[in-house]
Amino acid sequence: MTGSLSGCGGSDSQQGLAGADAPTTVKEVQRAEATPTREVPAPIADGSGSILTYSTVGYIDYGNPFFAPLGNGRACASCHQEGQAWSVTPAALQARFNASAGSDPIFQTVDGSNSPDAVTATLAQKQSAYSMLLTKGVIRVGLPLPAGAEFELTQVNDPYGFASAAQLSLFRRPLPAANLSFESTVMWDGRETLAASSNLCIKGTAPSQCFATQNADLGAQANAAAEGHAQLVGGLNATQQQSIVDFESALFVAQVSDNAAGNLGVNGATGGTQNLAAVPFYFGINDVVSGDYRSGTRFSSNVMNLFTAWQTAAPAPLPPGGRGAPPPVTADPAANARASIARGEQLFNTRPFDITGVAGLNDVLNQPNVRGTCSTCHDSPNAGTMSAPRLLDTGVAAANLRTPDLPLYTLKNIATGAMRQTTDPGRALITGKWSDLDKFKVPNLRGLAARAPYFHNGSQADLPSVIRFYDHRFQIGLSPQDVTDLANFLRAL
Ligand code: HEC
Ligand code: HEC
Repeated sequence: MTGSLSGCGGSDSQQGLAGADAPTTVKEVQRAEATPTREVPAPIADGSGSILTYSTVGYIDYGNPFFAPLGNGRACASCHQEGQAWSVTPAALQARFNASAGSDPIFQTVDGSNSPDAVTATLAQKQSAYSMLLTKGVIRVGLPLPAGAEFELTQVNDPYGFASAAQLSLFRRPLPAANLSFESTVMWDGRETLAASSNLCIKGTAPSQCFATQNADLGAQANAAAEGHAQLVGGLNATQQQSIVDFESALFVAQVSDNAAGNLGVNGATGGTQNLAAVPFYFGINDVVSGDYRSGTRFSSNVMNLFTAWQTAAPAPLPPGGRGAPPPVTADPAANARASIARGEQLFNTRPFDITGVAGLNDVLNQPNVRGTCSTCHDSPNAGTMSAPRLLDTGVAAANLRTPDLPLYTLKNIATGAMRQTTDPGRALITGKWSDLDKFKVPNLRGLAARAPYFHNGSQADLPSVIRFYDHRFQIGLSPQDVTDLANFLRAL
C-alpha cells in the first residue's frame, strides 16, 4: 500500500495552462490526471501464507477519508491495517513503535495506553504505558456503568490505577473493518447495532427486538470512532461518514494461500477472497435458534464447506482404529496439508460436544445442555459470524481466566445481592442488565491467520490456544491431531 494520505488526484488539472509547470507531453498529462491513490490490492504475507483484500469497487482508494488523519492525527487505518486483515497485530505495532520511537499516532493516551494518566515522557515510559497495545494489540475502550443498571460496581482492581464506575477500562481487539456484510452485530458488545422499528427482527422474541440497517449502524460507528479514538471535535460530516462506510463495506479479506497447502481456491476448494465476496448472507441466514429466516429450513451444522473437495486429497485408506488413529498420509506434503484442512473443516461442522452454561444460548434455546458443534454459534455459512444479533457468554471474561495485566471488576446485583467478578462486563455495560454480563458477539472467522491474538481481549495468542480454550471449556476431548487439523483449517480461512 502507498500510505499516501492526500486525496490529490489531479483534480485541479494543469491542462491548458502555459508556463513551466504545465505538462509538456501527452504521457505526462495522463499521469497527472490518473488517481495515484487507487491500487488493485495484492496478496500480503502473513504467518501461514498470504491474505488478499478484494474490494467490490475493484481497487482500494487510499484517498478515502478512512486513511485521512483526523482530530488527533489518527486515521481509521491506524488501527485497521490492510496487511493485518484490517485489524492490528502486536508484532506490527511493536515495529511501528520502534520505527517512530513511540510517536506513531496510534500511541496516544486517550485509549492507546493502559491508563489515560500514564506518564509517557521517555521511551521506556512509553514502552510500559502502551504495554497492552504492544503485547496484545488491545485498545482501552472506556465505558461508564450505565445509569439505572441492575448492578453496582463494588470493587475495582485495575493494575493501572485508573478504572472506576465513571469509566471502566475494557481492553479490546480492533475488529476487522472488512467482511462487514456478514455481521449482524457491530462491536464486541453490539453497542452500534442500533434498535429501530424495521423488519430486521430476532424471531421469537417478545417484545420483538428489531434493528436498523447495517449502513446506519456503520455510519454511527464511524462517527463514534472519529470522535472517540481520533478525538475529532464535531465528528465526521455526512459525506465523510458515508464515504468511509461505502469504503469499508466493499472490503473482503481472506487467506488466499497457505504455505503448506498452496492456493486455497484450487482442486475444487472455494477458499480465498474472491469466493468470499460471493458468499451469501442475510439477517438470520441458517439461524441456529429459529432456522433460516428466509427459506424456513432447519439450521444446518454444515456451516463451512469451502474445502469439502479436499477430503480426498490424501487418498490412502483409513487405517483400522477409527478416531485417534493417525490420519492417512501420502508422499505429497501439499496433499497432506489439504487433507488436514478438510478434516479440520469437518471437525468444525460435525464434532459434537455439550454446550452448557452459555448465557444467550442455553437459556434462549431453553436447553441446559445443547449438543452442538463449533458451527452452533458460528452459524453463518462460510463466514462464521452469528447471523442474528445474539451475544453470548462463553466465559472469556470470567474471573478464572483473569491474567494480572487485566482489570478485575466486582459487581453486585442490586435486587438479589448476588456477586460476580469479571474482566469485562461486555453487553451488560450497554443494557445495564445483569443477565447480559460478559456477553460478546460471535465474531467473523475469515482472515484469522493475519490478525492474532484472538478473543475480545487478545487473550489467546494463537489458533491452537483458541481451540484448547474450547476443548477445556466444553470438555470436547480433542486429540492433538484434531487440534492440528482444526488450527490448519482456521488458518486457511
Ligand atoms: C485507536 C484504534 C482505532 C481507531 C483509530 C479506529 N478503530 Fe475501529 N475499532 C477499534 C476497536 C478497539 C474496535 C472494537 C471495540 C469494541 O468492540 O468495543 C473497533 C471496531 C470497529 C468496527 C466494528 C467491526 C465489527 O465487526 O463489529 C468497525 C466497522 C470499525 N472499527 C471501523 C472504524 C472506522 C471507520 C474508523 C475511523 C473513523 C475506526 N474504526 C477507527 C479500534 C479503532
Ligand atoms: C457457545 C458458542 C460458541 C461455540 C460453541 C464456539 N464459539 Fe467460537 N466464539 C464464540 C464467541 C462468543 C466468540 C467471541 C468470544 C470473546 O471474544 O469473548 C468466539 C470467538 C472465536 C474465535 C476468535 C475470533 C477472533 O476474531 O478473535 C475463534 C477462532 C473461534 N471462536 C473458533 C471456534 C471454534 C474452532 C469452535 C469449536 C471448537 C468454536 N469457536 C465454538 C462463540 C462460540
